[in-house]
Amino acid sequence: ISGIQVAIDGPASAGKSTVAKLVAAKYGYVYLDTGAMYRAITWAAMDAKVALDDEAAVMVVVEKTPIHFAPGTPDQLVFAGDQDVTRVIREETVTNNVSTVAALPAVRAALTAQMQTIAAAGGIVMDGRDIGTTVLPNAQVKIFLEASVAERAQRRFKENQAKGIDVSLATLEQEIAARDYKDSHRATSPLTQATDAELVDTTSLTIEEVVNKIADAIDKYI
Ligand code: C5P
Repeated sequence: ISGIQVAIDGPASAGKSTVAKLVAAKYGYVYLDTGAMYRAITWAAMDAKVALDDEAAVMVVVEKTPIHFAPGTPDQLVFAGDQDVTRVIREETVTNNVSTVAALPAVRAALTAQMQTIAAAGGIVMDGRDIGTTVLPNAQVKIFLEASVAERAQRRFKENQAKGIDVSLATLEQEIAARDYKDSHRATSPLTQATDAELVDTTSLTIEEVVNKIADAIDKYI
């Protein structure tokens, strides 16, 4: 086998991308950050001054905006069309609007198809909200990462401090809870643990411990 599919889902700031990148590096797999795709389209729609709940208008943006990734350090670069949006898609304005765009069924269908094309060859680690349930329902390894809201806000707070971003812990907690609520309550492929996913609560685990747990699951297949 050339490699399996690994789906890592969970709520905002549960550490999905950190561990997904490490797992992908460990096995020489491709890492696909599906949240970055929703973020890139949200940024492009905001840039085009389109109403974010106008499905037809956002779909025009999706069709005009190919998303691609390129190698970069420390993080891979994200492009929306020919614009490097790596940084801007992490800003609060995009973060607080992305759930609105991600709730649009046509947008989900279009991005899901792109994700499935990328995953078809196997040897992939994907993180998101609906990878195990909708994007890769046959993934050999499915992980659902959890952590308390307080712990997730604390982690985001520390990351922000390192980057010089000043948002209070209370605001971060509110924003994380609001995004989780929207992502869990939308009609199309809401955030939920796949019935066959392994639940990993990372609240009191180190990054290395989480990576090892996922590696144990992968090693059963390869
Ligand atoms: O993972 P990240 O926080 O970057 O995801 C940003 C947003 O993109 C999520 O809050 C969610 O609204 C949306 N998303 C999604 N389905 C995915 C990945 C992300 O709806 N598979």
